[in-house]
Amino acid sequence: MKKRLLTILLLLAAWLPAMADEGMWLPSLVADRIGAMREKGFELTEADIYSINEASMKDAVVLFGGFCTGEIVSEQGLVLTNHHCGYDAIQFHSTLEHDYLTRGFWARNRQEELPNEGLYVRILVRMEEVTDRIQAGETPKAIIAAAEREGKGYRASVEQMYYGNQQFLFVYRQYDDVRLVGAPPSSIGKFGGDTDNWIWPRHTGDFSVFRIYADENNEPAAYSPKNVPYRPKRHFKVSTEGVKEGDFTMIYGFPGNTQQYITSDAVRYVQHRSDPMKIDLRTRRLAIIGAAQEADPKVRIQYASKHANIANAWKKWQGEVLGLKRLNTVAKKEAYEAEFRTWAADKPEYAHLLDSLEAAYAAHTEAYCLQELKNETVRTIEIATLAGRLAAARRADTAPERRAELEREIEQSYKDFDPTVERALALCVLQGFADYCPAESYPAELKALIEAQGSVEAYVDHLFTTSLLRSAESWKSATEEELAADPATLLYKAVRNTQGRLPRNLSNLPAIERWYRPFMQALMCFDRERAFFPDANMTLRVSYGSIAGYEYADGEYHIPHTTIDGIIAKDNPAIYDYDIPQSLRDLYATKSYGRWATEMGGRTTVPVCFLATNHTTGGNSGSPVLNSRGELIGINFDRTWRSTMSDIEFDPTICRNIAVDIRYVLMVIDRVGGAGYLVEEMGVKL
Ligand code: ARG
Ligand code: ASP
Repeated sequence: MKKRLLTILLLLAAWLPAMADEGMWLPSLVADRIGAMREKGFELTEADIYSINEASMKDAVVLFGGFCTGEIVSEQGLVLTNHHCGYDAIQFHSTLEHDYLTRGFWARNRQEELPNEGLYVRILVRMEEVTDRIQAGETPKAIIAAAEREGKGYRASVEQMYYGNQQFLFVYRQYDDVRLVGAPPSSIGKFGGDTDNWIWPRHTGDFSVFRIYADENNEPAAYSPKNVPYRPKRHFKVSTEGVKEGDFTMIYGFPGNTQQYITSDAVRYVQHRSDPMKIDLRTRRLAIIGAAQEADPKVRIQYASKHANIANAWKKWQGEVLGLKRLNTVAKKEAYEAEFRTWAADKPEYAHLLDSLEAAYAAHTEAYCLQELKNETVRTIEIATLAGRLAAARRADTAPERRAELEREIEQSYKDFDPTVERALALCVLQGFADYCPAESYPAELKALIEAQGSVEAYVDHLFTTSLLRSAESWKSATEEELAADPATLLYKAVRNTQGRLPRNLSNLPAIERWYRPFMQALMCFDRERAFFPDANMTLRVSYGSIAGYEYADGEYHIPHTTIDGIIAKDNPAIYDYDIPQSLRDLYATKSYGRWATEMGGRTTVPVCFLATNHTTGGNSGSPVLNSRGELIGINFDRTWRSTMSDIEFDPTICRNIAVDIRYVLMVIDRVGGAGYLVEEMGVKL
């Protein structure tokens, strides 16, 4: 009895404080949270956040390009997001003469704003639960089709919440004419590069500016020079008043993927199998790319974006493993599951659930792990990927224009393809694959290819001396027969994914997920005090919290804001990622901050970044950070790396998201970009 009480107390201690600022809430159901939000200082109502009939904040939040968030900040459809979210667009328009990545870009007027093929934003029209309709026999397909007929540019999707216990219809309006308006130089927008990525203190001005265009009726339309700036139902007012520790913060955006309700088996998989394996394999690839970049400035540029992509998740997973260990998540989940078992023992519909889940993990984990392993190794071999893309382009059913376009894209890929680096990477991942792949799972086709050459080294030599895909020119005139017999094509076929897209987490495998459906129902009966929110799935969410520092270890307190003084302290013309523009140095030297001068910590400075307690994840990049009156105070762009276990367990004492202060954004636009007219368009007097 005493022991049981102790366990219960421990469980309460584990979960209750976690409710503080935990959660990513559906805006249409935010009424449940308004009480808690108001307690923290929020001054508005649920109808201000989400309303179908009246303009509300949701009308000013956009899904940016399908992978980030952005916010509308003027009556003329001006959008703010992160520099790393606009990166591809900025890079696309960059040439040697107009190197916008390095120098930044500022349109001086509407005519100079740059269109971006393929880039779109979506604005939520409405969301509604359709669980009953689907149960009554309607298909998601029919529901989506009906919704998309409602208006021009309408896009809809049905998304599952709580592992399919609830289905929600999301109806969006999609705008396909989104133009680049401005971007700071990378030395501001990506200041600190991969070194500072996921790190606090942070000094990155991670923002870029776009504008949505619409037809003359303000409706979505494909790019046309005749299009006019979109007039939004609602835009965010920008607040230059400043923020201080303890102030309320709300984040409104599109978080991508969390797994808060997985069992101890699934956490163990992430912490002890999946993450460590992926970290090790990426450490090896990064070492090869890093050394090649050190040795050759051309390679440094060619592999900058690839290196950044590999390093981003690599660092995040290290934080996740560290955080899960620190929180003892597996042991806590085991204790929770033991309690659940006791509770469920006399309920036949629930009593078997943990056993069923355990059995499902035992049956499917190895196969999933093998797919993850392939994705991190043999499927990253670029020469084979290119062969696969070429085969798709040359397929008989590919239309001629489409074929030309695909072949142009393949040709483009060779801009960032160095055969020596690719050869070393191919060898590295083939060895990595062999290190982790159980002998009985090793693909026979791949084995035969390697054995035909005697050794993996000899095989890679053969690949890079004989494949027609090893250089940008040789594949173009290749015949169908030559390509079919090409070693890169054979490699592609031996390792390609024949099973469709891998579910985003082990627990989303249909054979496992089916048990989570009843398990979630059971948890909600078992744990009535817990505030349940559906896992992130790239649908619109609200998370609330406050500006706060954190004490990571005894005596290690981090204050929640940084200033321009910290940028100057890191400034170093000899290191690419820390070489700031001269204009910023001059500003600092003359302290000519003008309207942006701010008294902080007893000195005159300019704020740069701040920390808050909002529960966020990948996809929340570019999200508006709002104050108690719903005004824009910053743009979210990161978390601290030691926070990243928040995708599985949120720890309110140390989990922090990182935002760039809107005052720094405005100052850079005004003083570095010389585009003060944009600041005025946002309603801020200069
Ligand atoms: N860590 C942030 C996120 O996950 C920012 C990544 C972009 N920045 C970079 N230096 N790679 O997206
Ligand atoms: N940097 C991430 C993004 O791009 C945000 C995060 O993981 O906190 O969405």
